Amino acid sequence: MSGKTYDVFVTRKIVPDGTAVLDNECDYRIWPGPEDGSPDHATILREVKKCRLLLSLLTERIDKAILEANEKLLGVANLAVGFDNIDMETATSLGIPVTNTPEVLTETTADLAWALLMAVARRIPEAHNFTVRGKYKIWGPSLLMGNDVGTGPRGEAKTLGIVGYGRIGQGVHRRASGFGMRVLAYDPWVKEDIDKTEGVEYADLPDLLAESDFVTLHCNLTEETHHLIGKKELLEMKKTAYLINTSRGPVVDEAALVSALKEKKISGAGLDVYEDEPKLAEGLAELENVVLLPHIASASRATRGEMAMMAARNALALLRKEHAPNTVNPQVYETEAYGKRTG
Ligand code: GLV
Repeated sequence: MSGKTYDVFVTRKIVPDGTAVLDNECDYRIWPGPEDGSPDHATILREVKKCRLLLSLLTERIDKAILEANEKLLGVANLAVGFDNIDMETATSLGIPVTNTPEVLTETTADLAWALLMAVARRIPEAHNFTVRGKYKIWGPSLLMGNDVGTGPRGEAKTLGIVGYGRIGQGVHRRASGFGMRVLAYDPWVKEDIDKTEGVEYADLPDLLAESDFVTLHCNLTEETHHLIGKKELLEMKKTAYLINTSRGPVVDEAALVSALKEKKISGAGLDVYEDEPKLAEGLAELENVVLLPHIASASRATRGEMAMMAARNALALLRKEHAPNTVNPQVYETEAYGKRTG
């Protein structure tokens, strides 16, 4: 990439719906590397000095050094609802607005949490592999038995525990009503809202863990939620319960999870995210009671298109020095640092 200055550095190739929004509106460059790779820190550092705005993906760590490298940087438009890849404290203190792509992925992500839940409880990937590998010789009364998700033959309601009752957690709850489940939710930030919502009971984390047949995680990754589910919490779960994670990997202590799964302290886990993506904790991939996906919760064609367009529109608004929709640190707009940067 040349040394000329330009408007937007797009850290990796995005779907065409997004680039179509940028076309003719700004001078942008996309990192030209392979689709299964990402620019290294030195590349982002070099490009951020030449551009006015970063359109980043969750695979890029936007740290202090990058944020400090250009005093005229107008913002970071992250193509994800999560923004834990960005040093938010530094961004805010330097007057750099950061945007995300919320709402458009709520339903798609809630669908995938359910897909994982069903897949692990009913052993769908194992059953698929069994069938395509020619092992299906005869129907059998105990062949690939799993566990019920809905009420099952005795009509007893299973309990779904939702950790993080934001947009996606609520989407997961909406889907549970069709399964006749009892729904618990833990989210200290919106306890009052949960208390007022029909069909869901507030539970503190230990109660939720002890009572749920399925625990599904939908919280942001922050200092408070890092390793929210560790050895102690896994031991508090029922031996028959399943853990589903479509939030962020570090919310779970993955090594502790592998031990709990190996020792059958819980029944299984459905994971879309990992502590050190794309690496998996030692032993995780060898387990039978897991379903593992490569971080695809929002990956429907329509949703990825909407996310890319939203990130691109956020980027254009930031370039125009407007208060961009979906700014996750809107307080920056009132700061002297933002005024200096945009002046
Ligand atoms: C995906 O994980 C996202 O944050 O959008």
